[in-house]
This record gives sequence, C-alpha cells and structure tokens, in this order.
Amino acid sequence: MFQKIEISTGQSLSQIYFGFDWHRVTELLPSDTKVVIVTDNNLKLIYGDEFPDYPVLSVNPGETSKNLATISRLTEQLLKLGVDRKGFILGIGGGVVCDLAGFLASVYMRGIRFGFISTSLLSQVDASIGGKNGVNSRSAKNIIGLFNQPEFVICDISMLATLPEDEYLSGLTELLKAALIRDKQLVDKIDANYRSVLSRDSDLLNDLIIQSVQIKKRVVQEDERESGERKILNFGHTFGHAAESEYLIKHGIAVAWGMVAAMELANRNGYLHDADRKYVTQIIHKLGLLQGADIRGRDVAKKISSDKKRSGDSIDFVFLTGPGKCMLEKVSITDLVKFIRTFN
Ligand code: GLY
Repeated sequence: MFQKIEISTGQSLSQIYFGFDWHRVTELLPSDTKVVIVTDNNLKLIYGDEFPDYPVLSVNPGETSKNLATISRLTEQLLKLGVDRKGFILGIGGGVVCDLAGFLASVYMRGIRFGFISTSLLSQVDASIGGKNGVNSRSAKNIIGLFNQPEFVICDISMLATLPEDEYLSGLTELLKAALIRDKQLVDKIDANYRSVLSRDSDLLNDLIIQSVQIKKRVVQEDERESGERKILNFGHTFGHAAESEYLIKHGIAVAWGMVAAMELANRNGYLHDADRKYVTQIIHKLGLLQGADIRGRDVAKKISSDKKRSGDSIDFVFLTGPGKCMLEKVSITDLVKFIRTFN
C-alpha cells in the first residue's frame, strides 16, 4: 500500500507518493502524448536499464550543470524529438535534476506538464517538494527560476539505499530542519531513534520523510511564493548558504553548521533557552551532520558581506525559539556579520 500527500496551491495540485515503487511511474504518466526523461549520467548508469521506454536526456551530475546553457541544450533536444505543448517531462534525480527538469518544463513552449521521481533524501524531503524550480547564474545560486508545482513526485526509499553517506547526511539535515521549525514530537522521535535513522531503517525512514513532507506541505500551502511564512524553511540557511558557497561543501553540512550558529544567536538574543540549544545541538552531533565541517565564521562573514543576491540592509532571520518552534525577525546584515565573524 502506498500513501499520498496532496499539496494544493492556487490552481495547482501536486501529488506526492510514498511507498510507491518507482517502476510503476507509467501509471501516472499520460499515454497520449510524448514523454521525455531528464536525468543525470550517474543515475542513467545505475537505473537506466530499468527506466520506462521513453527518450532520455542526460546531464552531467552536480551543481555545475544547473545553468541556462544546459537549459538551452535540452531545449534543442526536446525540439529535435518533436515534443510539443502537450509533452511531458519526467525528471529522475536529486535536487539538481528536479530543479533543472522543473524549470525546463515550465519555460519550454511557455510551460508543459512535468513530474519527478525523486532519488535522494535531500530532494525527497525538500528540493523536489513545493514547486521551486530554477538554475544558477555565474555568481548566484537559484537566481533564475519560478514557482510551479510538479504534477507528482515519487519518493521511493528503495532508491536511498545506495546513496553515499555524505549525501544521506545532507538530506537528514533538511529532514531535521523541518521537524525543528514546526514539530517537537518529530524532533524527539529523531533523537530517540537516531541509531535506526543512521542505519536507514526503511519503515522509520519512510515515516520520517512523510512527516517532514507534511510539515513542508503546510508551510507551502500557507505561502507558496515565500512572501512570509515560507521563509521559516530557511532556518540555518543564511549562514549555511554562505558557508556552502565559500567552501563548496555539501549543502546539508553547511546548513547544519548554520543551524548551530543560528541557535547560538537566538540564545544570545534571549529567544532560545540554553537547555534547548544544547538538546538540538547534541542531536546534530549524534547524527554526525557536521562530519568534515571545517568552517570558520570569519570566512562566512566575508561571504555574507559580498553577497550580490541580497537586497536591502536587513533580512528576515529565522530564530528557533524551542525544538519545534521558530519565529521570523528582521536582523541587519551588519549585526549578522558582526556575530558570525567570531563564531566557530
Ligand atoms: N527549500 C526551501 C523551500 O522550498 O522553500
């Protein structure tokens, strides 16, 4: 038996499937139109023989493919295949492939239908859910993009068994983040079962992914276009994004460090009790989410100061106020830089 979560925003409905064998994807695809698969070369190598019988467009794995040059190349390939406005794009991959495939489908002929098979933990709990699609410019991540919900996302945990450890931990950070901003019981559950989480116990993992997607669903339905509440999904990301682009490290490691730093700031400002800060920080350590992180606050401070993507002198910063609770408050960039410069 599979489970389904529906995300309904404005005119669109996005169906997220759990416990659904990805090989059954054809049941969700239109039969009367051209379907094209977009994936990366690694996934094509691992799963290509099991893909349904549609043309496959493949990109190099990793963030370096997430740009307009790739979109332009894929567009020419779609035209060559004769894909028209009734066409359908099936993205099979993690965050990069889903961002690319969703963006391509949204702009090709002013928008065609699309859905995902989400292959990494990070994309199952975050990147493929919620309708953010886009590519990077030369100097800024995800700066060219739009909101558009996929028709469906298949989250099949059997695909997570072969994920490299650092990729898995990177996804766990986003799963924990979802719990931290909205659900204390889920935080406690992750803490109490951390060994099984690390050994990728499939029943537990499926349950945790479903619960974290429920949290994201509620936030996205409240504020799809991130004009307010959706910003809470950025907990740990202000410092984390800066660390990620400074050191070119895994997203999750950088965000885990960003969460620890953000909690320290919340504690200093009197928003987060020390016992809560310690409790959450020890979960982050127990899960090994900071593995290999050698991040210096002063480097992150420099990166934040020179961030071209930022607009204005202050941002809505996410402060954790307890496990499962958070609030947004405007903080000046000057104050953030002053704080992070001395944080290690
Ligand atoms: N990854 C954050 C969001 O979807 O808003």
